[in-house]
Amino acid sequence: MTEKKKRSDARYKIAWLPGDGIGVEVLEAAKMVLDKLQLNAEYIHGDIGWEFWCQEGDAFPGRTINLLKSVDAAMFGAITSKPVKAAEAELIPSLKGKGLTYRSPIVRMRQLFDLYICLRPCKGYSGNSLNYKENIDLVVFRENTEDLYAGVEFNPVPLELAVTLAKLSKPFSVFKDLAGDQYAISTKINTRKGSERIIRAAFDFAKKFGRKKVTVVHKANVVRATDGLFLEIAKEVAKDFPGIQMDDANIDAMCMWLLKNPFNYDVLVAPNLYGDIISDLCAQMVGGLGFGCSGNIGEKLAVFEPTHGSAPKYAGQYKVNPIATILAAKMMLDWLGEKSKAEVLEKAVARVIKEGKVRTYDMGGSSKTLEMAQIIAAHL
Ligand code: IPM
Ligand code: MG
Repeated sequence: MTEKKKRSDARYKIAWLPGDGIGVEVLEAAKMVLDKLQLNAEYIHGDIGWEFWCQEGDAFPGRTINLLKSVDAAMFGAITSKPVKAAEAELIPSLKGKGLTYRSPIVRMRQLFDLYICLRPCKGYSGNSLNYKENIDLVVFRENTEDLYAGVEFNPVPLELAVTLAKLSKPFSVFKDLAGDQYAISTKINTRKGSERIIRAAFDFAKKFGRKKVTVVHKANVVRATDGLFLEIAKEVAKDFPGIQMDDANIDAMCMWLLKNPFNYDVLVAPNLYGDIISDLCAQMVGGLGFGCSGNIGEKLAVFEPTHGSAPKYAGQYKVNPIATILAAKMMLDWLGEKSKAEVLEKAVARVIKEGKVRTYDMGGSSKTLEMAQIIAAHL
């Protein structure tokens, strides 16, 4: 499922969602490269982000949802995600009296379109002085729709929930005596279906691309119900892939071992939150967030984005590294079945990194976002 079926009539429809802050700048850079590659595509702008929440109480407006229903793929920049409570929303004039809270639109998008695979390749390009070690090549499969991101949360906790919990299990009766505003509950929900499909996607990928090992990341020794289920399913799925080795590790130990010996690992698969954490760690090992790219992939739609956020403090300066987003565009080309364009693009990125003449600030240089895009385009 990491590739869409190729259309023969291909003039692709691609939703273009810059979002907030530097999202706008890195997407402009990716567009320069896609234009140079002459991808036969129509790019359709979609409104998304903080600005739209402030103006209309919805960071992911219905018109953008409709747009996503009609496209082959989407490129997404970044969005400012802040934990805003209803009381703070009251201070924004256009939202006064609406009782709104802010939920991350990218998380909503992943759930609404069932983009259940978060694919995050973390490959070190030779000669990048930011590489933790040379030749790291890890691939993270992060479950993208459930787990602690399910959005089932209580703060304050309603009394009826405390009463129900007390009925279910004796130790839970302590909550009945706590005022609802003295604790909060965020639920971790992992389904059999959700776990199985991401684990299967990781194994399918390993098989297709000749990868040797899939490591299942969890915390099943403590979080027994949900992570226990995830691990149990992984063991079942692994039986269908006799040529691929499976091992597993607790998330804490995984972080340590990844740093100690990244070459022991290959494909990693994890529930949503652990996948979020290890994908930042793996991105750092190959140069940092300026190099981390993501695909949010479902059966019908895939949305590609850099792993980094909207970096408000750099907004408007055109100084951040666009390589993460350009590599996300490369992932999109792969997904569309445009193999040769994807390959050419990756080679150009690799050459520019190796030459080291154009470097953005994170790479120790002073080149601007669009200069990086220009030099990559010039190598195509
Ligand atoms: C990511 C980001 C998002 C996440 C945020 C921006 C909601 O950290 O894509 O990894 O937690 O999934
Ligand atoms: Mg993250």
